[in-house]
Amino acid sequence: MRLLLMGAPGAGKGTQAVFIKNAYNIPHISTGDMFRSAIKNATPLGIMAKSYIDKGLLVPDSVTIGLVKERLSEADCIGGFILDGFPRNLFQAEELDKILAELGVKLDACLNIDVDQKVLTDRIVGRRVCPKCGASFHIENLKPQVEGICDYCGAELIQRKDDTLETVTPRLEVYNTSTAPLLDYYKKQGILKCVDGEGEVEQIFANILKALGEKND
Ligand code: AP5
Repeated sequence: MRLLLMGAPGAGKGTQAVFIKNAYNIPHISTGDMFRSAIKNATPLGIMAKSYIDKGLLVPDSVTIGLVKERLSEADCIGGFILDGFPRNLFQAEELDKILAELGVKLDACLNIDVDQKVLTDRIVGRRVCPKCGASFHIENLKPQVEGICDYCGAELIQRKDDTLETVTPRLEVYNTSTAPLLDYYKKQGILKCVDGEGEVEQIFANILKALGEKND
């Protein structure tokens, strides 16, 4: 399964990716996670990326595309992958097509998780993440068993720096202008699948499995 996971900030991509990854036994490649790891390690890439991410803007294409190309060429991607957060604009989508052609593979599906824009802000501002294993929780909707502690690895949960009210607005604007038009790009390729991203996490995952099991148009 070679899958693109699309959806606005806060749509639940990271939450669902954990389940999809386990179901298909394929790596979850999140450009956001790659940047956050570089920021944590204060690498030159991280320092540069931080200046964009903290403002809710996209990291420049020249950097992001190279990063994805390198990652998709690694051995664990031979059997498939989930690409989460890439591509985010038309140029990235066209470059991804070239990368995949060079690797001699094709996408099986582009899965869009659809959530009303009004719900997204609450989800983002209330999100808490595990800095160790990457699991995602919410202070109201998806509470960890012990407040502030990751259910999976026991690390202390944190709030992402770009999960503030001020940063949500530019992030949603960037999504609407640059990323949302890609849904049409993948619809034309005949691989777009859409699921409703509101409701119980488990039910959404069941709908995702169903959508992925359906034949492309
Ligand atoms: P990235 O990390 O990709 O963030 P994003 O796309 O903004 O998406 P999020 O991680 O915010 O949300 P999500 O959909 O994963 O939702 P989650 O499952 O956590 O990118 C961050 C930044 O990096 C970008 O802004 C950009 O600067 C840069 N970047 C990344 N890729 C780039 C690229 N290709 N080019 C250039 N720059 C790039 O869920 C959200 C919350 O809701 C959680 O609290 C969760 O518990 C809760 N929740 C989930 N599902 C449900 C549900 N069903 N019901 C109730 N609550 C739920």
